[in-house]
Amino acid sequence: RQKLSEFNTIDDAANLLQKCRNIMIVTGAGISTSLGIPDFRSKETGFYEKVRQLGYSEGEDVFNIENFDHDPTMFYTLAGDILPDLKRYSPTHAFIRMVQDKGRLQTNYTQNIDNLEQLAGIEKERLIQCHGSFATASCRKCKYQVDGHEIFAAIRSQQVAYCKECIKKIATAQTSPAKPTKKRKTKPKNDYEDSDSDPADTIPQPGVMKPDITFFGEQLPTTFFDRFTEHDSQTVDLVLVIGTSLKVAPVSEMPNYLPHHVPHVYISREPIHHVNFDIQLLGDCDHVVFELARRAGWVLEHEMIPRG
Ligand code: OAD
Repeated sequence: RQKLSEFNTIDDAANLLQKCRNIMIVTGAGISTSLGIPDFRSKETGFYEKVRQLGYSEGEDVFNIENFDHDPTMFYTLAGDILPDLKRYSPTHAFIRMVQDKGRLQTNYTQNIDNLEQLAGIEKERLIQCHGSFATASCRKCKYQVDGHEIFAAIRSQQVAYCKECIKKIATAQTSPAKPTKKRKTKPKNDYEDSDSDPADTIPQPGVMKPDITFFGEQLPTTFFDRFTEHDSQTVDLVLVIGTSLKVAPVSEMPNYLPHHVPHVYISREPIHHVNFDIQLLGDCDHVVFELARRAGWVLEHEMIPRG
C-alpha cells in the first residue's frame, strides 16, 4: 500500500477523526500496559521476554495449542502475569468508547484477551475479539464451557484447572453399579511397575480447561473474517491502529486489505516499517489519544488523566 501524501500530522489525524463516520480501530496489548498488564514483544518488559528468561526458547510457545495439549503446565505457570483484574480500563479504552458514543465507531478489532473493552462499554456488536479472551474457558475433552472467572484462581495459583463436568461424570461412573468390562489387555512385563496397579491409560482422566483464547495453531473466530470481508472492508472511512506491533497474521494483514483511499493512522511507542501508514503518532497511546481528541474538539475524561 502506498502512503497517501495529503496526511502527515496529528492535526490531519484530528481532522479525520472529526470528519469520518465509519471508523475501524485495531488494537493490541499496548493499550493495556498503563494498567500494569505487560505487552508481549517489548524488549525487557514484554511477557515473551519473561518467558524466555525462564528458559523457554520461544515466548509464543505459551500459546501453542500442541504444547498445551501435550502439557498445560507451561501455560498455567505463566498466564497469571497477563490475567486482568477487570476493575479498570485505560484512557485509550475510554477513547474508543468515546468514538462509539459519538456514533463513529464501526468496529473495534482487538487482539487483546483481557476483555477490558467490555468493561469500557464497547458494544458487543462493534467488538471483534480476534484472539478470543479470558471471558470464558472450555474443556479440551468434552467442550464444557464455564465463565472464565471459574479458572482464574487456578491460574493465579499456577495449578492446572480440570473440567468439573468431566470430574462429575467420572465420579458418577465410579459410584454406579459396575458394568461388565472388557478384559484388560495385558501389558508386557515391566520390572519397574507395581504389577497390581492400574495402567494409567485405563483410568479416566478429566479434560483440561483452556481459556477461550485463540492459540497459535487454532482458527480465529469466524466473526472476524465475516465482519471484515462482508461488512467493514468496503465501508470503513478511517482506520486507527493502536498499541500493536502488527506481527501476528491475519490481523497484521488487515490494513493492506482496505481500499487504498482509506487513511491509515498508527499510534504506538515505536515506528512501524512493514506496513505503510499515512500518519504515525508515536508515544504513549493514552497521551496521544488524549491530544488527538483535544485537537478534534473532544474532551476525553478518565481517572488516569489529570484534570484541568
Ligand atoms: P505486542 O507486544 O507485539 O505489541 C505491542 C506494541 O504496543 C509494541 O509495539 C509496543 O511498543 C507498544 N506499546 C506498549 N505499551 C504502549 C503504550 N503505553 N503506548 C503506546 N504503545 C505501547 O502485542 P500485540 O501486537 O498485541 O496473541 O501482539 C499480538 C498478539 O501476539 C497477541 O494478541 C498475542 C501475541 O501472541 C495471543 O494472545 C493469542
